[in-house]
Amino acid sequence: LSSPLVEGFINTVSEQYPQYAIGVQESYQKSPERFTAIASKYLTWLGATQNGAVDRALKAYVDFTSSVNFSQARYEHDGHYENKSFTEVYESHYSKREEMDDYLWGVYLTNFLWSHHLDIAPGHGGWGVWALEQKKNATLTGYDISPSSIAIATEIARAAKVDDRSEYTERDALDLFSLDPEIADAVICSFLIEHLEQPDKLLHVINQLLKPGGTAFLTGALTAAQVDHIYEFSKESELFILAEDADLRVIESLSVNPERLLAKAKFTPKSMALILKKPT
Ligand SMILES: C[S@@+](CC[C@H](N)C(=O)[O-])C[C@H]1O[C@@H](n2cnc3c(N)ncnc32)[C@H](O)[C@@H]1O
Repeated sequence: LSSPLVEGFINTVSEQYPQYAIGVQESYQKSPERFTAIASKYLTWLGATQNGAVDRALKAYVDFTSSVNFSQARYEHDGHYENKSFTEVYESHYSKREEMDDYLWGVYLTNFLWSHHLDIAPGHGGWGVWALEQKKNATLTGYDISPSSIAIATEIARAAKVDDRSEYTERDALDLFSLDPEIADAVICSFLIEHLEQPDKLLHVINQLLKPGGTAFLTGALTAAQVDHIYEFSKESELFILAEDADLRVIESLSVNPERLLAKAKFTPKSMALILKKPT
């Protein structure tokens, strides 16, 4: 491995959580170069936030992964996601600050530790911070309902030294209809759509915010249970149709799934990414 930071991290996983080492090795083997590039970026930012951040995030990742595995097993048994309404999930999950902090740090690490996750890493602030690192003149505003997200994304932006070009505000995505239209050159919206009762509205919000010719990066989960997934997508075409119905053109798409599934699984958990363009 060309990165001592990444090598040290993989060794820590093997020593402290040996049952998770095989999954990490699988992700690494799939594309060692890409894994190392993304992992070293994410681990550097994480390490620059506060003392003990890497250990905390690793523990959160282990807890998050086993919670997702339990949710998927329950989904196999029950045939539907456990929660259906946003209110239910808000009360049991989004409003619990400490639980949300751990959840978001856990998901942060899935960006490179889950081999079935998308090839470009999403994250808590991670996606936007990465975009700012690439686009030196860009500015970014992030909106999330969770105070944990605002705090963590702000910390990651500071660690990556792009905090002077980013700001994060606590706000519901569907309230963004009230912002001025056509203010964004690009929109990133990763793994939100399956958290909404009316996912079609999200695509209309994105269309309204984009300038003509602007681009959106959208990801979503299909037949993949999690405590906060309430809209059950099953086919890739469902996301295409939502985008097209909101007058957004699908330029590229990718759908991926884990290699190892539960025994006799009826559902294959899938992650899908779409690049969308608003017509001029
Ligand atoms: C699975 S995380 C995705 C985080 C990150 N975008 C990623 O791809 O890793 C889902 C996020 O959606 C936020 N969220 C859920 N419902 C929301 C809503 N109605 N408006 C804005 N954010 C919401 C949650 O607080 C959480 O931070």
